[in-house]
Amino acid sequence: MEVIILSSPEAVSQMGGRILAHQIARCPASVLGLATGQTMVGVYRYLVEQHCQRGLDFSALHSFNLDEYVGLGPSHPCSYHSYMAQQLFNHINIERENTHIPDGLCSDVMAHCREYEQAITAAGGIDLQLLGLGDDGHIGFNEPSSSLSSRMRIKTLTPMTRRVNRREFPPGESTPLHVLTLGVANIMEARHCLLLAFGANKAPAVQTMVEGPINAMCPASVLQQHPHCTLVIDEAAGAFLQLADYFRFVYEHKPAWQRALLEGSP
Ligand code: F6R
Repeated sequence: MEVIILSSPEAVSQMGGRILAHQIARCPASVLGLATGQTMVGVYRYLVEQHCQRGLDFSALHSFNLDEYVGLGPSHPCSYHSYMAQQLFNHINIERENTHIPDGLCSDVMAHCREYEQAITAAGGIDLQLLGLGDDGHIGFNEPSSSLSSRMRIKTLTPMTRRVNRREFPPGESTPLHVLTLGVANIMEARHCLLLAFGANKAPAVQTMVEGPINAMCPASVLQQHPHCTLVIDEAAGAFLQLADYFRFVYEHKPAWQRALLEGSP
């Protein structure tokens, strides 16, 4: 796992955006795994800027989102369908039929999950999987105690995640209990995983995922076994890392060619 510690949340979003933009420029028909949440807002803003100002072309791209709330339809303002439209899809030239988000209103959950996984396989698998990190160590909505071999399914959110995600809903509307989420095993099948995290709230989960044992109580810790995983965090999120100085040293001394492989030439 490569750990890159940057000075600010803005720097994390910029680097996340640059890594995605480089992937799209290098391989326009890439299959991206996408995430939602506060962490991704700056990343998607960066991609929209690249499209508007530099003509970054999304026309051949395919995308699969990690998750959706059960019970929220695409037009619900708090659904992840709405989030993706507002933050990214409405502002770039991606073909809507190439974008995929789990259907929170599906009547047969098991059949829908099976078909969603089959669509990922038919598209050739995920080249680059974007991930945020839950305060409790979740990736996707694989909450603590999720099987590290889990596949796409329905999950119940923990009280902590429901409390954190409360901010996505207007007063009076409660956070849904259930989500559809790709499983830990689906995430591990991506060719490259890129996890972004910033802020002091994430520091305990970052420390556990990077330096703790691989354990279902912190599903993100399974990424220690991924052959190509990049973690980009800010100083606050990295505050509890014992090896923080080593990670900074490694990044500062990274050969230019290796940096260019990740995020292109400056
Ligand atoms: C959302 C997702 C979640 C979030 C995580 C962090 O699609 O998969 O794992 O990435 O809950 O959320 P934020 O970025 O809001 O802190």
